[in-house]
Amino acid sequence: MRAHPAGPLHGGFETPASVGAPPADLGALDPAVWPRSATRVDGELHLAGRPVTELAREHGTPLFVLDEADFRGRAADFATAFADADVHYASKAFLCGQVARWIADDGLHLDACSGNELAVALAAGFPAGRIALHGNNKSLVELQLAVDAGIGHVVVDSFDEIERLVPLAAARVAAGGSPVPVLIRTTVGIEAHTHEFIATAHEDQKFGFSLATGDALTAAVRIIREPALQLTGLHSHIGSQIFDTAGFEAAAHRVVGLLGQIAQATGQVLGELNLGGGFGIAYLSEDDPVTPEDVARRLRSVVAAECAALDLPVPRLAVEPGRAIAGPGTVTLYEIGTIKPVRLGAGGGGGAPVRNYVSVDGGMSDNIRTALYDASYTCVLANRTSTAPPALCRVVGKHCESGDVLVRDLWLPSDVVPGDLLAVAATGAYCWSMASNYNYLLKPPVVAVRDGVATEIVRRQTLSDVFALDAVLAGTPAPSPAVDQPAPEHAAGFSS
Ligand SMILES: Cc1ncc(COP(=O)(O)O)c(C=O)c1O
Repeated sequence: MRAHPAGPLHGGFETPASVGAPPADLGALDPAVWPRSATRVDGELHLAGRPVTELAREHGTPLFVLDEADFRGRAADFATAFADADVHYASKAFLCGQVARWIADDGLHLDACSGNELAVALAAGFPAGRIALHGNNKSLVELQLAVDAGIGHVVVDSFDEIERLVPLAAARVAAGGSPVPVLIRTTVGIEAHTHEFIATAHEDQKFGFSLATGDALTAAVRIIREPALQLTGLHSHIGSQIFDTAGFEAAAHRVVGLLGQIAQATGQVLGELNLGGGFGIAYLSEDDPVTPEDVARRLRSVVAAECAALDLPVPRLAVEPGRAIAGPGTVTLYEIGTIKPVRLGAGGGGGAPVRNYVSVDGGMSDNIRTALYDASYTCVLANRTSTAPPALCRVVGKHCESGDVLVRDLWLPSDVVPGDLLAVAATGAYCWSMASNYNYLLKPPVVAVRDGVATEIVRRQTLSDVFALDAVLAGTPAPSPAVDQPAPEHAAGFSS
């Protein structure tokens, strides 16, 4: 693991082998990586018809810019590919009121992973019947909200949760309501990431009921015997950023096997099978994700074959893409603040290569994924193109943490200067939603762009918002001008 705890410098002073040769065009926008509307006009990056310098001037930086047509187009691609199934948008990737409305209007279902994600969706008017609630430690309050709202499924995750849910469901039934529909989250012993998956007999994780130990079957029997609960099917989720379907196929094989065991043990044939999310996206040009059509075709055929082998009817399928819908259509705009050339290698001698630490005005508080998961991103100089020779760079944030890296190694034009804008690609999933206030940096706004119109769908957090939580500072005026806003001289100085 290259990220490390707070402390003195450990940036990894090896010569970066991973970065490869500089590309022919440092400003190129690979359509596999950048939002569908991304283009350059007179050198400047435009998103859905809006120049990034204008967006930065109007909304400040750091700024999440979300291409609405891209987001909704990817949701539609899944809905079309899985027309005979249910597509649940995994809202943990990115959720706000506007996103909940788009997903609702576009006919998809939605997964919430906490009572508050559920509350956001409900408050935005999302139809409760199309919501599933996940979570390995749902509280009584969260379950009560789900039961009262009449959500589509509670995805039960533990025996404790079943016992917590039963009295709430029984009260609903006693009041004339219907039993609470549930899925059982199974742990199938498959773990998949990118091109690899491992299949094991046992699982060592906090989610779900194990198939291998028989817990999943025991849970199914318990729920089927409980009149206030209606077991409608099984759920499995095997990992994230998965590039081929082999792991899903192995999981489907195991989970259909459990459908057969349940039918044998109880006589109940469950009609739903949710195979989770985890479909990968291209963060870099070399990433090669599967298309929704491919996934749908493979899953359909594997589940049909497994069911035929066990003489079971084919259940209704569901999937839960999060990243694959939200990720690719958003970029983060940052302003460069400082550039520091550092000689690599012991002693930093004259012949040693130089890495330029390009510091921007956000960092691990708006994108923790590089530090947390060693994730790879790419970025471009956004306010202009340049024909200057390439320089080896590391794009870092402004946090007091040497692991505060956004893009570990890449080539940028050697004439980038403070005041230039950088755009980091594919930041729509698990960036804003994982944002923090570390070092009291403030959460950036999210601006949706469509047909040349930019709409702030989440406003920038202010220091006053943060002061309001503090017992001593609540009501104290925050410094003015706000310290998180772009300096006027930089806002005026974007060189395009
Ligand atoms: C149960 C479940 N479903 C769906 C997802 C969405 O995954 P992704 O965004 O990789 O598609 C996750 C993410 O971890 C998850 O835990």
